Amino acid sequence: MAELRYYGEKMEVKVSSARMYISKKEYKPSRFDFLRLVKRTTARVILLANEDTTREGKFRGAEPQTMDDPFERSISSPPSKSFTTLNHLRHVESLATLPSGAGGIPKLNAVILGESLASEEDDLVFPSDDFSRRAHIPSPQKYLEMYRRSIEDPAGFWSDIASQFYWKKRWGQPVYSENLDIRKGRIEIEWFKGGISNICYNCLDRNIELGNGEKIALFWEGNEPGTDGSLTYNQLLQRVCQLANYLKDVGVQKGDAVVIYLPMLMELPIAMLACARIGAVHSVVFAGFSAESLAQRIMDCKPKVVITCNAVRRGSKIIHLKDIVDAALAESAQNGFAVDVCLTYENHSALEKSKTKWQEGRDTWWQDVITKFPTTCDVEWVDAEDPLFLLYTSGSTGKPKGVLHTTGGYMVYTAATFKYAFDYKPSDVYWCTADCGWITGHSYVTYGPLLNAATVVVFEGAPNYPDSGRCWDIVDKYKVSIFYTAPTLVRSLMREGDEYVTRYSRKSLRVLGSVGEPINPSAWRWFFNLVGDSRCPISDTWWQTETGGFMITPLPGAWPQKPGSATFPFFGVQPVIVNEKGVEIEGECSGYLCVKSSWPGAFRTLYGDHERYETTYFSAFPGYYFSGDGCSRDKDGYYWLTGRVDDVINVSGHRIGTAEVESALVSHPQCAEAAVVGVEHEVKGQGIYAFVTLVEGVQYSEDLRKNLVSTVRKQIGAFAAPEKIHWAPGLPKTRSGKIMRRILRKIASRQLDELGDTSTLADPSVVDELIALADS
Ligand code: WTA
Repeated sequence: MAELRYYGEKMEVKVSSARMYISKKEYKPSRFDFLRLVKRTTARVILLANEDTTREGKFRGAEPQTMDDPFERSISSPPSKSFTTLNHLRHVESLATLPSGAGGIPKLNAVILGESLASEEDDLVFPSDDFSRRAHIPSPQKYLEMYRRSIEDPAGFWSDIASQFYWKKRWGQPVYSENLDIRKGRIEIEWFKGGISNICYNCLDRNIELGNGEKIALFWEGNEPGTDGSLTYNQLLQRVCQLANYLKDVGVQKGDAVVIYLPMLMELPIAMLACARIGAVHSVVFAGFSAESLAQRIMDCKPKVVITCNAVRRGSKIIHLKDIVDAALAESAQNGFAVDVCLTYENHSALEKSKTKWQEGRDTWWQDVITKFPTTCDVEWVDAEDPLFLLYTSGSTGKPKGVLHTTGGYMVYTAATFKYAFDYKPSDVYWCTADCGWITGHSYVTYGPLLNAATVVVFEGAPNYPDSGRCWDIVDKYKVSIFYTAPTLVRSLMREGDEYVTRYSRKSLRVLGSVGEPINPSAWRWFFNLVGDSRCPISDTWWQTETGGFMITPLPGAWPQKPGSATFPFFGVQPVIVNEKGVEIEGECSGYLCVKSSWPGAFRTLYGDHERYETTYFSAFPGYYFSGDGCSRDKDGYYWLTGRVDDVINVSGHRIGTAEVESALVSHPQCAEAAVVGVEHEVKGQGIYAFVTLVEGVQYSEDLRKNLVSTVRKQIGAFAAPEKIHWAPGLPKTRSGKIMRRILRKIASRQLDELGDTSTLADPSVVDELIALADS
């Protein structure tokens, strides 16, 4: 059983599944964090009111108020000011009717946004009356009404939204068809089949026709303050058309793959849209991936063209992207697949043309050719189920998965989720800090916002360059009203001190957003109270590369938030929590998060491996899509994500498979075996912890340690570098040779008194050896 100890300023928590509340001492966890954790776990709790009074008790689930708890009074007596307002009552009454078994809320510590701080003991954070009144979804009733229809009549609900877009030919009947039950045969999901459309047309041409031609589509902010640019919808369309014409000219046709390896220049969304315009399938590879990883992806999807740039500045460093691409193309060619065209953008602020290595015949400068092409380009009309893009993501084997999204459903879903979850209005300026190399940059830098004719800020630089106030400088400069980022960034800025934030006005901000991992309540409150001046709701959006768009998310005007909870399902989404037997559990519970029935934005397959699609996502719990995440639902029906339950580590919101890191490590000639687990990390959420067994006769050394880390950087990318290499003379294995990761996780997080039964190990003494070497 897990154990929690709270000592006023300091908390000692030993619960692996609830890592977001587990704090290094620097976090200064609050009593609220502690109580929240207690709520969500079945734990042995030891509360120390002061160092010499100890109370012990056992708690199950969300019943903190029943605790014999020195802090009980502080959570049960509501703050007097806002408790009795009508605003509060409105929500209390209506929440009684929320789905998923949400009952009334027995205890309320309400705060009205904009009126008072979300303090440590506050449970619920309400949108202000003013915010709700103007919101697309102003109340739980409105949400419920729409949610109910989306579940009872998905075809009608989504057809109404789809009708807002341009379709060359309307979709046929049925509007969707699906089989999510592996016992009934092949897994298949189709939406709007037979409908003919184009997502680039809907992002650009349609919005221009609606009168947005002179509206800014993209603001671009470079790494150096003062370097910037912008494109109106008209200008963006022209740029996209020129590139689309070029791609056609070099032979790219509908269905061909194009790999894009670019930093956050405007050319990145331009390249994505150009591919979409001509029906080509883009595969963006995050420009932090190594040459090996890029080569692996190139060899898998066999692109006609690779698009890159010569170099990029990140903070004070220059990264030579073209060199990485050259190495990847060489490796791919050696393995039998040669790319004929490498279109290279000259990023002259980072590197001059003349200093860029060049392969005549294959390489072409973007600036030399693109301007020669016409600024209009016919649209390739595609079926709703034609592929739009591939995006590789980590799984639990060494081989990344090519998640495939198609056109129509993805278009409708990203547009709708963007509009409702951020309560988007035409006057908003929207900034998402994600890179287009990840799904967030696909759905919520590019497609979702542009489909809504939004003005989007694209930022190329590092958020702490030239100093930690850069984000707020950008917010003020462009009058950003919706700011969407990741908890890891919030936590890293939080460490730098409030002054970097308060120096800027931030008064344009209206809505904040979070994605990538669960946001811990202390980071949530800092983000809310300080960055958003207690005025801006936070949309904590839970979703995945596979889901295409938001699945569980606040609708900011509709209901109160609980710091750390992604709240309720989006329209059309039926989350279910199942136990290890795959049985759905109702009401307040914890388990594995699955989804019943399809939604338009769902991925349709893994590129070239439909079988892996079926086994990874649909076999563990037949009848459902399995997300790979753990989740609990509280008595009010709010969903709380608790992190991955598979062999995937979430580092700074980036998914990394343990198997990928292991295979990189064992490729080092002196590494015999490796086992990788995730450990909590103060800023990154999780860090990579590697146990390494060396080849017989090789000695441990600091140099070797560095070498192993750099092998991983080289093979995967810098973001996958292990935090710790733990020398392991042997690994804990069962008699059948299976590594017991559970034990490794405990050793990595120094939960040594929770190792559990080690007697089933082939050689139990390896555990003591590992413990002895823990800090060597
Ligand atoms: C995690 C990123 C809790 C989760 C969009 C999921 C989250 C994985 C949240 C997907 C959130 C993402 N709260 N956990 N708001 N958002 N996750 O594919 O573990 O890069 O399975 O997509 O990130 O990561 P991916």
